[in-house]
Amino acid sequence: MNVQGEAFRTIFLADDGWRVTIIDQTVLPHQFQLLHLSSLSDMATAISDMQVRGAPLIGAAASYGMALAMREDTSDTMLANAYNTLLATRPTAVNLHWALNEMKAVLVAIPESQREQLAYQKAAELCDEDVAICSAIGDHGCQLIESLWEKKKQEKQKEKTTSSAQAVNILTHCNAGWLATVDWGTALSPIYKAHNAGIPVHVWVDETRPRNQGFNLTAWELGQHGVPHTIVVDNVGGHLMQHGQVDMCIVGTDRTTRSGDVCNKIGTYLKALAAFDNHIPFYVALPSPTIDWSIRDGVADIPIEERSSREVTHIVGLTKQGNTEEIQIAPDNSAAINYGFDVTPARLITGLITERGVASRGVNNANSKDDADLEQSLGQLFPEKSSNDNLSLNGSLK
Ligand code: MRU
Repeated sequence: MNVQGEAFRTIFLADDGWRVTIIDQTVLPHQFQLLHLSSLSDMATAISDMQVRGAPLIGAAASYGMALAMREDTSDTMLANAYNTLLATRPTAVNLHWALNEMKAVLVAIPESQREQLAYQKAAELCDEDVAICSAIGDHGCQLIESLWEKKKQEKQKEKTTSSAQAVNILTHCNAGWLATVDWGTALSPIYKAHNAGIPVHVWVDETRPRNQGFNLTAWELGQHGVPHTIVVDNVGGHLMQHGQVDMCIVGTDRTTRSGDVCNKIGTYLKALAAFDNHIPFYVALPSPTIDWSIRDGVADIPIEERSSREVTHIVGLTKQGNTEEIQIAPDNSAAINYGFDVTPARLITGLITERGVASRGVNNANSKDDADLEQSLGQLFPEKSSNDNLSLNGSLK
């Protein structure tokens, strides 16, 4: 996507052909800064400090982390060390496991002399694959937005008022835009495609405390692409929904169970509850590497990242002098806790927008609220993955 008119991906090789360039997401929106990473340790730090973040981008970054490790040392010991180091950076997003397993499967099977070159090649392939997947998610999701737009126009006509429908109002949480992937994004990809096709869209951007990915990243990237949007604090969504100001919600996910439970940024669950109560469609956009086919119960089986309480008690912003500064906002001695994600049960979700189409309820019955229907629909889109052979009884990854 474009930054000041210039096309960018979130991760790519530097001009020297081996260092890995990323956009430092900890300094956006006030600075657009590229970083050139040259070691396994650089990449592990970039992921755990969230200079790169978002489930698909974490996977892509980890694959390049393996390539940087192979440039340092192609031995089996380094391979195992790189795998374990990168896996430990963030616990919730399953794309990290997926990308590392893809890399490992290629690298263990070949002689050490070929590992560096093949690691770079495979990492580049995984990035290209992510772009294609996210673009396809955008195409499928765009059709949903278009249908809502047509419906909204017809309803306005029936009202016989002189005013016309203004736009499809979409609420999103956190950042599941192109910054969270290699390009296009997941939840924002349908929005970009709809905007590009001339369908009027307006996005309600949840601030997403405590790291504020909504106003730091989502608002910034929507603004760069010219998509109308409004930032709201996290607690406003329910009020907007009660007053008919939200036509649909689209969010991303870090891990989705085979039954359609979705683990996404903390606060997503409350938005899904409010949407359910107000009969507003709640969609989750996801690339298939985000599906953990080995588990069914998201609340029981998905590890939830807990980050430093300092992210809650302090906030980073721009001073009048134009410097980025962290200030304390909580009392000195109050305890704080910082869970990164929560789980939205499948029963609250209208549909899962994947690269192969939309898994939705009502495979057998259009009015069904049965979770099994969402699982069945997802399984029909990915028959090669959904066999029970992939299901683990203890919830661990196979
Ligand atoms: O902690 P983050 O910023 O990595 O969390 C990101 C999210 O929760 C996104 O919604 C999710 O990764 C989907 S990204 C396409």
